[in-house]
Amino acid sequence: MDLAARITQVKPSPTLSLDAKTKALQADGVDVVNFGAGEPDFSTPDYIKQAGIRAIEDNFTRYTPVGGIPELKKAIVDKFKRDNELDYSPDQIAVSCGGKHTLYNLAQVLFQAGDQVVVPAPYWVSYPPIITLAGAEPVIVATSETNDFKMTADELRAAVTPRTRAMILNSPSNPTGATYTRAELEALAEVVLERNLLVISDDIYEKILFDGLSFRNMANLGPELKERTVIAHGLAKTYAMTGWRIGFMAGGKEIAGAVTKLQSQSTSNPCSIAQKAGVAALNGPDDSVAVMCAAFDERRLFLIEALNRIEGVKCFRATGAFYVFPNFSAHFGKRFGDLVIDGSDRMADYLLEEARVSVVPGQAFGEDACLRLSYAISLDDIKKGLDRIEEALSRLS
Ligand SMILES: Cc1ncc(COP(=O)(O)O)c(C=O)c1O
Repeated sequence: MDLAARITQVKPSPTLSLDAKTKALQADGVDVVNFGAGEPDFSTPDYIKQAGIRAIEDNFTRYTPVGGIPELKKAIVDKFKRDNELDYSPDQIAVSCGGKHTLYNLAQVLFQAGDQVVVPAPYWVSYPPIITLAGAEPVIVATSETNDFKMTADELRAAVTPRTRAMILNSPSNPTGATYTRAELEALAEVVLERNLLVISDDIYEKILFDGLSFRNMANLGPELKERTVIAHGLAKTYAMTGWRIGFMAGGKEIAGAVTKLQSQSTSNPCSIAQKAGVAALNGPDDSVAVMCAAFDERRLFLIEALNRIEGVKCFRATGAFYVFPNFSAHFGKRFGDLVIDGSDRMADYLLEEARVSVVPGQAFGEDACLRLSYAISLDDIKKGLDRIEEALSRLS
């Protein structure tokens, strides 16, 4: 079957396929410790679930306005004002079927053949294919581990060409858990203004932030930068709502209008029930978020310290999201029987086969020295998994 070139040039999401492989093993009764999870191990809070149930009972089950119901757009506008001191009007907002869909839509309406989009590595797995599917070229910028894998202004400047249209920034980051400081954002902002770039700010982990840090993005750096920034956001991570599929963008009216037009000819509105649940999530108290973050924080601190105690493993202090990105490269080149651990893919395979521990190879995020471990699992599982990893590493020679 001849499929369109557009789809043959992208690979399936490696994190989702790893998750499928792990779940298949678990379904066969194998006791796997799964550090691969990209979603909170918490349930959607009750008040949000109740809003969804009420929406069904009230027969709120029909088509809605394509770019989101007014009530949800208002809740999003209020959220930006309250949490981020950013003013948007409802026509600057478009609601989509998850954060990934929001990013996909943005790429479709903003990028085209000939455009380059800067993506700092390590990057979230879907950025390059989303850009490629829009006909544009992702330009991967290597960053330095000594800077917690955050892109510097010099690295950005060196990557920019006359064809560069935009850059994507994700802070806190998946996969590294690193967070940009205000000063780091300001340095990048100089290049953004100098080279007239657009910024796609993926803020999906905004509220999962530790060490007393407060969140900020490019749009916070003044009106000129706000104008050049499009925020991609969603409810999945903050409210443990990964299955509900609500994402949203905030930015220029023209962009929101274009996203809405694209949806009108593709997906139509996001799920009506999920939108009502989304209103409850955004307007409700953030107590559940605080409880979740406190649990994440305890696991984060334990995990970072314990990883750094394992010989040949180095892990910098992640300050957000629910991932750490330790460097395992000191073990590369070692053997287990005939198997040579030649990089992160083999290391992840080895750990799954021999230690029954599922981790995501850094290769999937454009940084082969590392593995991504999610701590959206219990502290007991984290301890068990780390013991298994340490034992498996000690068997390499
Ligand atoms: C950095 C980042 N952006 C966007 C998303 C998309 O989230 P969703 O489509 O579930 O809202 C994810 C999910 O893993 C992510 O890690």
